[in-house]
Amino acid sequence: MADDTLRFRALTGADFVEARRVADAWFGHPVGLTMHRLFFDQLGEGGLCVAVPGSPVAMAGVLLGLRSQPEPDLAYVHFHMVDPTLRGRGVGRALYEEFGRRMHARGCTRIRALAAPDREASVRFHEALGFHGRAEAEYLGPGQDRIVFERGLPW
Ligand SMILES: CC(C)(COP(=O)(O)OP(=O)(O)OC[C@H]1O[C@@H](n2cnc3c(N)ncnc32)[C@H](O)[C@@H]1OP(=O)(O)O)[C@@H](O)C(=O)NCCC(=O)NCCS
Repeated sequence: MADDTLRFRALTGADFVEARRVADAWFGHPVGLTMHRLFFDQLGEGGLCVAVPGSPVAMAGVLLGLRSQPEPDLAYVHFHMVDPTLRGRGVGRALYEEFGRRMHARGCTRIRALAAPDREASVRFHEALGFHGRAEAEYLGPGQDRIVFERGLPW
């Protein structure tokens, strides 16, 4: 799917209930407060929704990210999900690339995201997008190892 067929827009609090309705099923487990309404209300241009024209679903994917305040050259993806019926068609990549373009325009030269080591799709996704990962034991607390993925911007 070519990027130019997709429609991106900033998320707002009005999108939260729909995202909440689908998130657990799209992830395959409860996402809990990882997807807090705060992000939808306050991320501004760091929160992105993508739609596929002609598709009956208005929300094909969501990305929650921000430009770091202590490290202003760093764009950080906190959360990212794509409708399972639309996976494998480049929607996830397009969301990352759009976010990366917007953050690069604000001065970011690096992008970072986390993945749990046992989340095969997420790990393979970041590798396919050219990220390099380093394993961090208990990065999110006891028993919560993560791979910290990072790559340069622009793409
Ligand atoms: C991870 C996720 C966002 C990928 O979305 P997607 O739209 O299917 O990804 P794309 O089609 O854009 O794929 C981009 C690249 O990643 C690779 N990739 C994506 N999913 C993959 C998988 N399950 N296994 C292997 N490679 C995969 C693709 O092969 C593609 O590589 P290419 O561009 O070199 O051909 C989606 O699977 C998802 O929403 N998963 C559940 C939520 C989640 O884990 N989010 C990430 C952590 S916050």
